[in-house]
Amino acid sequence: MYISIQKTKKIEPKTNTLYLVKSFHEVNATIFTYEELTFIENESENNKKTSFSFNRFTYWDFIEIVKEKDDHFHFLESLRVLADKYVTIFNETRLESVSIQSESLTAEESLAFAEGLVLANYQFNKYKTNKEAKFNLLKSVLLQNKDVSKAQTEELNIVTEASLTARTLVNEPVNFMTAPQLAIEIEMLAKDAGAKVEILGKSKIEALKMGGLLAVNKGSIDPPTFTIFEWKPKKTVNKKPLIFVGKGVVYDTGGLNIKTGNYMNNMKADMGGAAAVAGAMFAIAKAKLPVHVIGLVPATDNRLNNNAYVSGDVITMFNGMTVEVLNTDAEGRMILADALAYAQKFNPELVIDLATLTGAASHAIGKYGIVAMGSNNEAFLNDLKMSGEETGERLVEFPFWEEYEELIKSEIADMKNIGGSDAGAITAGKFLEKFTNYPYIHLDIAGPALVEKRFNYRGIGGTGIGVRLLFNYAKRRSTKT
Ligand code: BES
Ligand code: ZN
Ligand code: ZN
Repeated sequence: MYISIQKTKKIEPKTNTLYLVKSFHEVNATIFTYEELTFIENESENNKKTSFSFNRFTYWDFIEIVKEKDDHFHFLESLRVLADKYVTIFNETRLESVSIQSESLTAEESLAFAEGLVLANYQFNKYKTNKEAKFNLLKSVLLQNKDVSKAQTEELNIVTEASLTARTLVNEPVNFMTAPQLAIEIEMLAKDAGAKVEILGKSKIEALKMGGLLAVNKGSIDPPTFTIFEWKPKKTVNKKPLIFVGKGVVYDTGGLNIKTGNYMNNMKADMGGAAAVAGAMFAIAKAKLPVHVIGLVPATDNRLNNNAYVSGDVITMFNGMTVEVLNTDAEGRMILADALAYAQKFNPELVIDLATLTGAASHAIGKYGIVAMGSNNEAFLNDLKMSGEETGERLVEFPFWEEYEELIKSEIADMKNIGGSDAGAITAGKFLEKFTNYPYIHLDIAGPALVEKRFNYRGIGGTGIGVRLLFNYAKRRSTKT
C-alpha cells in the first residue's frame, strides 16, 4: 500500500538519513567529517548549493539546507515540493527506507515535508504486468522531530491515504469504474472507516424522480447510483450537518453533443469531485473528527445510444423545477442539481460541491487552483480559502453576481442547462445555485483534478485534489463550537 510515516526518537546510525536544516551551522558535526563540513560550508556560502548527498556504500546521507520563505503557506508548499525532489532521488537510488532528521524545522514544517514524501511516492501500477525497474521501492519513512506528536503522524497517514485513494479512483478507467462500481468503492471506504453508507440504485432514483441524473443516464447501459456516506459520531460540534457533494460522471463522452478531437481523452476523471468527497469522508471518519458530515455522490456515465437524452429535451428535476437541455455535454450540472436539491432535506449548515464542471474554469486558472463561488454566507468561503492556503489546494473566488442568471433563462422552461460563450464557469455555478436554499460553496476542479504531466508531489494522472482541503476544513470546524 501507500507509505506511512512513523515517528522516531532516535535514528539508527549508518542508515539512510536526510538531514533537513535551515543553515549549514546546524549540520551535525559528529556525523560528518571536518572535510565534509568545510565542503558543505564552502559550497553553500559561495555557490549557494543547498543539496548534498554522501554515498557511504552501505547507506546514504543527504543534507538539505532548506530556504525559508517570507510567506508561511508558501514555505509549507515549498517543503512538499522539495519532498517530491527527494522521492525521485531516493527511488533512483533504489532506497527502501529512509529517516528524516528535521529537528531544526517546526512540527508543521516537518509534517509538510513528510506529507510531500508520501504523496509524491504514489504510483498507479495496477495494470502493469511487468514489474518495471522504475517502480518505486521506498516503503518506510521515519521522522525525527521532538515537536511532532504521534497523533499528528497518525492523522497525516490517514489524510495521505485518503488523498491517494482518491487518485486511484480517478485513475481507474471506466471499463472498471462504472457508476455501480464507484458506489461499491465508496461503500468499502465508509465501512473501513466505521461510517454509515447507503447506495440508492436505479429504481430508488426513479422513485425519487431524480430527473437530472436519470436523463444523463438514459444513454448508458450501466444504471446510475446515488451514494450517501454519513459520519455522525456521538459528540459533534455542529447541530446541522456539513454536506459535501461530488460530481460522479464516471465517463463523459459529451453524449450526443459528443466531444471531438482529444477533448474526450481524460474524461474518466470526470468523477474527480466524487473521488474527493469519498476520500475526505473516509479521512474524517477514520480520524473520528467530532463533526456531523454527509457526502452525496450522484454517479453515471454520459454516453450516447438510441435512447440518449437530446438537445431540446425538457427535464423535470428532483425538486420539480424544469430544465431545457441545450447541450448534452453540460451533464454535470444535471446530476449535481438533483443532489443539491436532495441535500435540502438535511437542513445543512453548509453544502460544498466539488465538480470537474467546466472547461472554462480550467482555461481561466489552469491546474494551479480551484475555482470557487459562494452564496449566502461569506464567512464560510473565507474559512475554506484558509484551508486552501494551508493545504496547497488553493481557491480563487469568482464573481457570483445575480446578473449572471439572465444567461441561463429559458423561453420554455425554468432555466436552460448552458449559458453561452461568456463566463462558462459562473453560469454553471449559477445553474447549481438555483437548487440550493442554504449556505453554499461551489468548487470547480476541472483544472487541477487530473494532470497529464507530472506536477511535483501531486503526481501524474488523478491528483486527489479536494481531499486535503475538505479534511482541513472539517478539522478546523471541529475545533469551533
Ligand atoms: N466534464 C466537462 C468539463 C471538463 C472539461 C472537465 C475539461 C475537465 C476538463 C463538462 O461536463 C463539460 O463538458 N462542460 C462543458 C459545458 C458546456 C457544454 C456548457 C464545457 O466546459 O465545455
Ligand atoms: Zn460534459
Ligand atoms: Zn462532465
